[in-house]
Amino acid sequence: MEAQEVKKEELVPIFIMGKRYEVPSSITIQKAMEYAGYQLIRGCGCRGGICGACGTVYRFPGSYKIEVGLACQTLVQPNMYLTQIPFFPATKSIYDIEKIKPNIETLVKSYPELLRCLQCNTCTKSCPMDIEVMDYIAAAMRGDITRLAELSFDCVMCGLCTSRCPAEICQYNIAILGRRLYGKYIAPKAEHLARMVKEVEKGKYEQMLRGLMDTDEETLKQLYNEREIEPEQADEDWTPKDKTYL
Ligand code: FES
Repeated sequence: MEAQEVKKEELVPIFIMGKRYEVPSSITIQKAMEYAGYQLIRGCGCRGGICGACGTVYRFPGSYKIEVGLACQTLVQPNMYLTQIPFFPATKSIYDIEKIKPNIETLVKSYPELLRCLQCNTCTKSCPMDIEVMDYIAAAMRGDITRLAELSFDCVMCGLCTSRCPAEICQYNIAILGRRLYGKYIAPKAEHLARMVKEVEKGKYEQMLRGLMDTDEETLKQLYNEREIEPEQADEDWTPKDKTYL
């Protein structure tokens, strides 16, 4: 009985699609929805702020402001009125990356609405990843593919920017086109990767891989923890011998 009373004190009211629920105050919106009985079939993926599947909008009584966030990362607050928008319809250009060029013509031909940007900055204010969305759209308008790719690198494609854009631009699809163009035509090629691919194609690692497939789990863990790390990839503060990953 006592335990029940303590639990009740920790509950806060929230409104999911207009219906009132009382949920624990320390949990995320995503967990609160499940606590309230919703089964999340869409709008829930990684639960870790990476996949962008759980875009959510909410408001507080008396406030004109629309708030946005990822349901798996945002804690509930008393009296929030919320709903999830796990999918927002967006334009998506179809292209053959081998046949397009990394320039402004490609961006504008794929997404002509790019030039409708009003520079209102609503996209940046809507981004749960704190990305300077308007700045990468400005870079796209200048044909600066490198800057577009750099600034949009952390995008999780939740679509919240697109849902708020008064110019009806689909920022995150423009950004992914920019990152593909950057990766294909601008980023320096990794020579060691090309070398490795050739070695793989020649079957250099075939025997070793077959051996690993026949190895028991404990030995695999030991091999993993004792593996050699290429010097240029190793973190200076990190020594493989004093860390275990499995
Ligand atoms: S569930 Fe993947 S970002 Fe929230």
